Amino acid sequence: MWDHTGKEYIDACSGAVICNIGYGNPKIANAIAEQAHETFFAYRTQFENEPAVRLATELVEYSAPHLNRVFYVSGGSEAVESAMKLCRQYFYNRGEGSRYLFISRVPSYHGSTLGALALTSYAPLEIPFRPMIRTYPKIPAPYCYRCAFHKEYPHCDLECARALETTILEQGPENVAAFVVEPIVGASIGALVPPEDYFSVIQKTCRKYGIFLILDEVMTGFGRTGKLFAYEHWDIEADIVALSKGMASGYYPLGAIMVRDDTVDEVVSKGGFAHGHTYAGNPMACAVGLEVFRVITKEHLSENAAEMGRPLKAGLKDFAERYKMIGQVRGKGLLLAVELVKDRDTREPFPIEKEVNLLLTDMAYEEGLIIYPRRPINGLSGDHVLVAPPLIVKKDQVGEILDRLDRALKRTMNKL
Ligand SMILES: Cc1ncc(COP(=O)(O)O)c(C=O)c1O
Repeated sequence: MWDHTGKEYIDACSGAVICNIGYGNPKIANAIAEQAHETFFAYRTQFENEPAVRLATELVEYSAPHLNRVFYVSGGSEAVESAMKLCRQYFYNRGEGSRYLFISRVPSYHGSTLGALALTSYAPLEIPFRPMIRTYPKIPAPYCYRCAFHKEYPHCDLECARALETTILEQGPENVAAFVVEPIVGASIGALVPPEDYFSVIQKTCRKYGIFLILDEVMTGFGRTGKLFAYEHWDIEADIVALSKGMASGYYPLGAIMVRDDTVDEVVSKGGFAHGHTYAGNPMACAVGLEVFRVITKEHLSENAAEMGRPLKAGLKDFAERYKMIGQVRGKGLLLAVELVKDRDTREPFPIEKEVNLLLTDMAYEEGLIIYPRRPINGLSGDHVLVAPPLIVKKDQVGEILDRLDRALKRTMNKL
């Protein structure tokens, strides 16, 4: 990227972890031009359109066998809310109208619109709106570095995963519709990978009580974590998967949910899904999504993310040896994060007024590097930055990212 003065930056966080295929890809420009000569718009209740059908077909082919239906939207928040509403309408149609509660985690980010915000736990983004949002039950995320139960894995018996069952029982299983979760936490905690057996406990609990497992893959989908979808890292079967970001990689607003047949049939056979957005599934967005998907699959970008993630993570871990303010390096593929602490032994965070995550981001900016700052303790304290470059990154560029970050860390240390 170049700014108005001509200064060059390496975008090491893909915008908001979205530009999976990188910027300025001529294949996408061509796909847009070609589609523009066909049609910009066809309303989904009147016409299907070719790009939408083709993209859905390819998504179904490449995703888990049971996910064989696609419903389009134009962004991540819309995808999450569509997942909630489809799940709710499914239970409603089946005569289980008491199921309306969605359990999610603390912290988490699922989007900015009121329904998605109700699932979110990231204080600065919710506090002003709390009186307007329905309060849904939440369980602690598997943030082992700061365990909510003050336990240590593996001696903890995965209390954070078992909290799902306790919460379902507290709320009454007949009232719970779904558990909504990011397979690998993106922004809110910073590239948090759960313990290996976490999702097997979650999946069993969801099945036991007949509730949906909704995976929010808005950030993790489309190759980001080294697999096309992050659920492939474990033996899990989500009932609904929410997608966006990398799906059109920033070239157009696009998102989707993927679902199994019987969920859709239950809803469609009884009057149809009482939900939808005017721009959803429009031919321009889907033509872009189709071309982006082909770039990701044909150019093996998931594999490149897995491969380039290794030296990048190794480089970040090497920084942790040299900079005592690095408390933890985490993540998978090209969704990586560095948590910064005042005291590595006690894991005490820096005082919030020092705004260390922003300071490091500013120093990186000066070095021509873009990273993504957040606060892992429910958005209120702690400091982390995401390092998540486009999935086309090459080995020498990984080296350049690390060099610039090294200089930024040095400058941050000197300022503190
Ligand atoms: C995991 C997750 N879900 C949902 C969203 C919301 O997506 P959007 O900003 O496109 O509405 C985001 C955005 O960062 C996200 O990271």
